[in-house]
Amino acid sequence: MQVSNQSFAEAQEASSKVLADIRADPTTTTVLTGDRPTGSLHLGHYFGTLQNRIYLQKLGVQLFVLIADYQVFTDRDSAAGIGENVLDLLADYLAIGLRPEDCHIFAHSQVASLNQLLLPFLSLVSVAELQRNPTVKDEIRASQAKRLSGLMLSYPVHQAADILFCKGNVVPGGKDQLPHIELARVIARRFNERFADGSSYFPEPALLLSQAPSLLGTDGQKMSKSRHNSIAISASDDETISMITSAKTDSIRDINYDPQGRPEVSNLLLLGALCSGQLPEQLAAEVGNRGAAGLKAVVADCVNEYFRDIRIRRQEYRSDPAYLLSVLKAGNDYATEVANETLGQVLSMMGMDYRAG
Ligand code: TRP
Repeated sequence: MQVSNQSFAEAQEASSKVLADIRADPTTTTVLTGDRPTGSLHLGHYFGTLQNRIYLQKLGVQLFVLIADYQVFTDRDSAAGIGENVLDLLADYLAIGLRPEDCHIFAHSQVASLNQLLLPFLSLVSVAELQRNPTVKDEIRASQAKRLSGLMLSYPVHQAADILFCKGNVVPGGKDQLPHIELARVIARRFNERFADGSSYFPEPALLLSQAPSLLGTDGQKMSKSRHNSIAISASDDETISMITSAKTDSIRDINYDPQGRPEVSNLLLLGALCSGQLPEQLAAEVGNRGAAGLKAVVADCVNEYFRDIRIRRQEYRSDPAYLLSVLKAGNDYATEVANETLGQVLSMMGMDYRAG
């Protein structure tokens, strides 16, 4: 990741301040977060971002959760399975505790006026700026796509529309979101200068960095579905056991927490600790000299115990697509109302309010 340490330190400091402001007065905060519907969510998502959404929901902020379906096409041609992926995501969301009465879950393909904001926003950025975005550059390098799509280059502008249509002022995310949030701020600022007489029509959104330590996959690499090293929230007990049993470890029998020296063992300890509410050191002491096999058995138990109820709820939701789609429709309808209002104001500020009616 090419985000410099200095800008990361600044972002961390800014992020602590954002959190303090939200706690002081949640009613002035509109949070927008989202995921691409590319499959079920995994434990890295859960401890990295999803738990935090539930926390923000409890605080009482206005919370929009976006199923970023258009973004799936940045680096792939096929829409195969996208409908099922959307249902999987909805079931995950509800099972972990997002409540349709307390947040708005919507898909951007279903909110036409949100997408139209992309056009004025594209006019506010240069091609060179888009080409410089370090996260996009990383993704282009990692992608197997034979050609670079225009959508890949411009999706950060689309994200600005996702955030600004609802005047979102806080966006939870990781370090990789920093360049995107910076671009959204630039777009808000330029729009305000150019079309809103320098007023603060669009807020400049702030990144709320995740505080959670990040979990590695079972191979010790970054956890990701495409690397087949992740445990899905929806995994069965047996799948969980088999993933954890196959995890990379070392051959030292005495188990201790040493993230630098023993990253794979420590990652399992961290996972077990997050699930059992202990410190990783305590869990290590509990396993003692029972080696990797003992550690894996204990961690698998912790995970299965923690996710038992969530998984039961998830299955119930997933077996009721009509209900899931009704939740999505309510979110889409609400987001459409908000986006229509914003787009109407935007067109009017741009001098394009000559529509009849
Ligand atoms: N890029 C995010 C992801 O891949 C999803 C997303 C789309 C998003 N639009 C956003 C996140 C706006 C935050 C704000 O998971």
